[in-house]
Formats: sequence, C-alpha cells, structure tokens
Amino acid sequence: MAARFLSFEGADGAGKSTQARRLAATLRAEGRDVVLTREPGGAPGAEEIRRLLVEGEPGRWSPVTETLLFFAARRDHVERTIRPALDRGAVVITDRFTDSTRAYQAASRPDGAEGAPAALIETLQREAIGLSPDLTLLFDIAPEAARSRSLARGGEEARFEGMGAAFQARLRAAFLALAAAEPARFAVIDADGTEDEVAGRVLAAVLPRLGA
Ligand code: TYD
Repeated sequence: MAARFLSFEGADGAGKSTQARRLAATLRAEGRDVVLTREPGGAPGAEEIRRLLVEGEPGRWSPVTETLLFFAARRDHVERTIRPALDRGAVVITDRFTDSTRAYQAASRPDGAEGAPAALIETLQREAIGLSPDLTLLFDIAPEAARSRSLARGGEEARFEGMGAAFQARLRAAFLALAAAEPARFAVIDADGTEDEVAGRVLAAVLPRLGA
C-alpha cells in the first residue's frame, strides 16, 4: 500500500523541520498535492494549545497534564487538517505526531517527575486519534550535535530544550526503541551531515514507499 501519511520525528535540533519543508517542496514540484503540517499545532485551536506547551518554565506542567494537552491538540489537528487532507487524496507530512508523546511525555523529568504511563498514552491514541502514520522518519543525531543546532536557532519555544542534556539523551534512546519495535513503519535517518546529504537520505527512504 502506498504511504500517504508521513511523520517526522526526533529529539530537538535534529533538523527535521527543515527536511520536512524540503520534502514537501520536492513532492509538490512532482505535481503531488502535499499538506505540510506540525505538532503541537497544525489547526487554529491546536496552535493556541501549542503556546501553553512550548513556552514557559520546564516544570510548568506535569507529564500527565502535558499528555492530555498534546492529545487535545492532536485530536483537533486530526479532525480539522489531517483527516480532510487524506480524504481528498493528499500526501500529509506532519512534523511530529504521537511518537513524540511516547518519547517526551513518557520520559522522566530533570525535576524527578515520573513520565506519563504508556497505558494512558496508548489508550488516548486508540480512543481519541485512531490514526497512525504509514511511514515515520526518525531523525537520529548525537545530542551534542543537536544541541548546537537548537541553541543556534534560539527563540521563545525552548521549554523542552531547557530540560537538559540527560533528558535529550533519554529521548534519543526512547525514539530508537520505538523504531526497533515497529521496523515496518519506521525509517531511521542519520541526521548528521549537510542539509543536502540528509535530504538525499530522506528521498531514498520516502520515494519507494509513495507509489506512483
Ligand atoms: P517542535 O515544534 O517540533 O520543536 P522543534 O522544532 O524544536 O523540534 O515541537 C515543540 C516541542 O514540543 C518539542 O520540544 C517537542 C515537544 N513535543 C512533546 O513533548 N510531545 C509531543 O507530543 C509533541 C508533538 C511535541
């Protein structure tokens, strides 16, 4: 079956947002209908929830509260943006989806807070979302290389970057474990390299899966 719903995942600073834009542009140049979107956000209501999540102190929300907010935003994103686009036959590329919740909200926090239970995350995914990507590209990079990219970019939305190096290392391991558990859905992309090199790896992973 041709893949039409693609997600891009990885810890902060892996360069996936740039690569998502490039892939969307390449596919549009081939004449495909492509919807490029992101989480948290991707619909007007979900973008309002985004601000609550990515700004402010690292300890602003507990992992369970965060999980509920991310899933509220995700439900809105699926209802208003992703489902309508898939129904009209578009390719959807989302910069992050439920795997980010599985990695970020399930990880324990620098302040010692326990991560959200996997059972909660999977129940919300099943009952409120019910849709999974056909193909997930995991952008994998050493945390030190990722950190210099995140810092170079700066900005207001650094709440998760502010959780520190050990947290970012836990995220990397969590994402790799998700990929190992579902090898048919995931392609792990080595995100270390020039933008053009990584873009070549992305196309090599995606084009065979898209179909005509
Ligand atoms: P994003 O805009 O992708 O940030 P970046 O461009 O730095 O990768 O995502 C914002 C932050 O939200 C990012 O640090 C990851 C976090 N996040 C979660 O913790 N859980 C989630 O389910 C999602 C979608 C994002």
